[in-house]
Amino acid sequence: MTTRAILIAAAAALALSPPLTAGMAGAAKAESQAQMIQQFAELAGQPASAERGHAFFLASHAGGHPDTPSCSTCHTKDPRNQGQTRAGKTIAPMAVSQSPDRFTDPKKVAKWFRRNCNTVLGRACTPGEKADIIAYFASL
Ligand code: HEC
Repeated sequence: MTTRAILIAAAAALALSPPLTAGMAGAAKAESQAQMIQQFAELAGQPASAERGHAFFLASHAGGHPDTPSCSTCHTKDPRNQGQTRAGKTIAPMAVSQSPDRFTDPKKVAKWFRRNCNTVLGRACTPGEKADIIAYFASL
């Protein structure tokens, strides 16, 4: 957590210096993903854990649709790979290393967490679960 806190502090400092960040599109995206993790972690009142996110992603959950018990049902067990919807439509990898635009659009993140957590768990994901899952995808 200490390292992450330092990274976030550094990102915040960079954001306050526009000349430094000019032309650094990649850094701006990483900063936004770090902020998203940080916001959910603050709501949860605990630091994000990529390991917990990994376990949550692979777990078979009860309460949702029986044919989609896991996030990995559609996103595959290795989110660096493309996934597939039940209808066979391709889903771009969730891993930020493969899909750098992931978790940079708060509306998209909110929409799909709502939809997918309901499908898999039959309930909304908690802020802690969201922080952990994004931390996991960002760590790959
Ligand atoms: C029924 C198939 C399916 C399942 C099961 C599923 N997803 Fe998804 N997920 C999708 C599709 C389709 C999209 C939207 C297409 C895209 O973003 O490429 C998506 C997108 C997302 C996004 C948006 C990412 C972004 O770009 O901002 C998040 C977050 C997400 N899923 C998380 C989860 C989590 C967490 C679970 C398990 C609780 C899960 N998904 C289970 C199909 C699924």
